[in-house]
Amino acid sequence: MALLTILRYPDPRLHTVAKPVAAVDDRIRRLVDDMVETMYASEGVGLAATQVNVHERVIVMDTSEQHNQPMVLINPEILQRSDDLAIAEEGCLSVPQVYDRIERPARVTVRALGRDGQPFELEAEGLAAVCVQHEMDHLIGKVFVDYLSPLKRDRIRTKMIKKSRDDLRVR
Ligand code: NI
Repeated sequence: MALLTILRYPDPRLHTVAKPVAAVDDRIRRLVDDMVETMYASEGVGLAATQVNVHERVIVMDTSEQHNQPMVLINPEILQRSDDLAIAEEGCLSVPQVYDRIERPARVTVRALGRDGQPFELEAEGLAAVCVQHEMDHLIGKVFVDYLSPLKRDRIRTKMIKKSRDDLRVR
């Protein structure tokens, strides 16, 4: 397995729309294994292929308390969204150290293929619902800061550009 490089906002590649996975083969299984390893190494609860510059519909997540229940969703589709909304504080491995409150449907039902290529359905609420919607947004080129006001987004963009310059200087 290998650690993958995570694109940082405002990298324009984060706004790429991912294509469906044609077949769950060895290449895709290697990608999901590397994504799971990268997610755990970065202490994230979710990661979309878009974030590692692979533009295919693959996400991994683990919202379990012990961080020992990785979930793989290939070609995920939302079947149902609850009418009631919930606000949660979100962060993103592509926007380090930025957190803000985002409102989304409180519960969603998602259909996807697993690592074995078999279809399954996930009924998600709480953190899992937030996470799966956040990661699925990545697959359509949407980063959570896109929900914020243009003013806030500009401030984050400036902060991220400065941070990546500082990171380069340290190296
Ligand atoms: Ni994210």
